[in-house]
Amino acid sequence: ALISMRQLLDHAAEYGYGIPAFNVNNLEQMRAIMEAASKTNSPVIVQASAGARKYAGSNFLKHMILAAIEEFPDVPVCMHQDHGTSPAVCQRSIALGFSSVMMDGSLGTDGKTPTSYEYNVDVTRRTVEMAHACGVSVEGELGCLGSLETGMAGEEDGIGAEGVLSHDQMLTDPDEAAEFVKATNVDALAIACGTSHGAYKFTKPPTGDTLSIGRIKEIHARIPNTHLVMHGSSSVPQEWLQIINEYGGEIPETYGVPVEQIVEGIKHGVRKVNIDTDLRLASTGAVRRFMAQNPSEFDPRKYLKETIGAMRDICIARYEAFGTAGHA
Ligand code: G3H
Ligand code: 13P
Ligand code: NA
Ligand code: ZN
Repeated sequence: ALISMRQLLDHAAEYGYGIPAFNVNNLEQMRAIMEAASKTNSPVIVQASAGARKYAGSNFLKHMILAAIEEFPDVPVCMHQDHGTSPAVCQRSIALGFSSVMMDGSLGTDGKTPTSYEYNVDVTRRTVEMAHACGVSVEGELGCLGSLETGMAGEEDGIGAEGVLSHDQMLTDPDEAAEFVKATNVDALAIACGTSHGAYKFTKPPTGDTLSIGRIKEIHARIPNTHLVMHGSSSVPQEWLQIINEYGGEIPETYGVPVEQIVEGIKHGVRKVNIDTDLRLASTGAVRRFMAQNPSEFDPRKYLKETIGAMRDICIARYEAFGTAGHA
């Protein structure tokens, strides 16, 4: 069944678990997520980015998600729009049938330029008014995602602030967060706590303070009834990097957010955990390995099937680690 994010996250808060929100661009990802959810009895948040809409087309995405709901009737599914850059973008997704939207007013309509607090409040408040009138949930964002280690925002194209960020910009201020939630009435708030988008989050194996768990605790203490969202939550599995590089890839040494640290965040109010890169890495590794080991194969179904299995295993691991399993 299609359900709103609010319903899912309220349940997650009541029972103290987190829900991974996986980005979806194609049929293989959709199947991997649903098969993993069905196997572990987990609710699902699938999210479509602007890049996904450009790649697959909004109607294909919409009907793929609806098809998933039809094929897996026992799995609760939230159909979420990731990183909307304006109220108009969110409005189009609501019209398409999304049950949840993110209005990311922390960046301008180019998805790159950091904005003022006042701008962010204005676009987010307007989106909430419109969405709530349609029974649709809204995620807002306050702060700029950036690696506390490198000072970089991460992803070069798509969503991510440009240039080097200050330490201050990279950690959401708890008082400002309280004021923002009050002014906008968002259902969930994405916070900046040291993560960044993409595969290049950290250059060294992360230590205990890779992520500012302290800041998550402070924000949660200030706004205990607001569901927190952690973007840039891929763990960048070293085993997949190794497979990619073993079979012709060239990905430099890099590290993501350890699963145990995300689990620590979930203990302090993080309810939605955004993951895209991990599934991309698993897909690429699976295809590279299959192609190298089966050089005469040319049926796309053969190598794409490998990607489904690889992504499904990651989804299962996250549903289990975050405590989502058993809550469908
Ligand atoms: O937030 C960024 C997500 O990983 C989506 O990336 O815009 O390349 O689809 P994308
Ligand atoms: P990753 O790049 O760490 O997978 O984060 C994805 C994300 O935050 C999508 O909004
Ligand atoms: Na931001
Ligand atoms: Zn994100």
